[in-house]
Amino acid sequence: MKANVAVLVSGGGTNLQAIIDAEKNGIIKNASVKLVISNKTGAYALERAEKAGIKTCTVLCDVLGGQSAFENEIIRLLELYNIDIIVLAGFMSILTEYFTSKYPNRILNVHPSLIPKFCGKGFYGIKVHQKVLEAGEKITGATVHFVNEIPDGGAIIFQKEVPIVDGDTPESLQLRVMKEAEWKLLPMAIEKVAKDLSKK
Ligand code: GRF
Repeated sequence: MKANVAVLVSGGGTNLQAIIDAEKNGIIKNASVKLVISNKTGAYALERAEKAGIKTCTVLCDVLGGQSAFENEIIRLLELYNIDIIVLAGFMSILTEYFTSKYPNRILNVHPSLIPKFCGKGFYGIKVHQKVLEAGEKITGATVHFVNEIPDGGAIIFQKEVPIVDGDTPESLQLRVMKEAEWKLLPMAIEKVAKDLSKK
């Protein structure tokens, strides 16, 4: 029985696209994406999901009246779709312990650095690459990890190093880290977690 996956998004959805493509190409065999939830209206990730025939929902914290109602609505949808694995793919919202404690070792996140470097509160998206370049690093990369109540604090599943090239800008580095690491590691991690679940 395949694991049902929900992907939580906020933006362009390039990581979601990598997951969709990996399912199509047989890299992900033991899981299937059943639901995409965005916390932002009009996120291009939603278009990617719709094109792939995947159910989409937009859940807005402000409209629902705060974090508790926001998280409870997401939980309602996860239960409605019998979701086994939750993937945060460019999801720009910190989930509280109330939420993460319900899904121990079932929530995965992709972070665009080699954790424990350049992670935690305030380190997300292009900001991570700006800090990496400012620090004069020669190597960076991406990490896929389980999510707990500590931002970027859960157990690491996979990491992959990516070289920094002379003249790199935050944008050029972000694209290389996504292409060479994020888009490869996230599907691999989903397949690993789903396969381990299928053995239980
Ligand atoms: C990327 O910077 C990625 O590292 C981070 O979220 C950003 C956008 O990802 N996790 P996506 O294109 O929306 O998947």
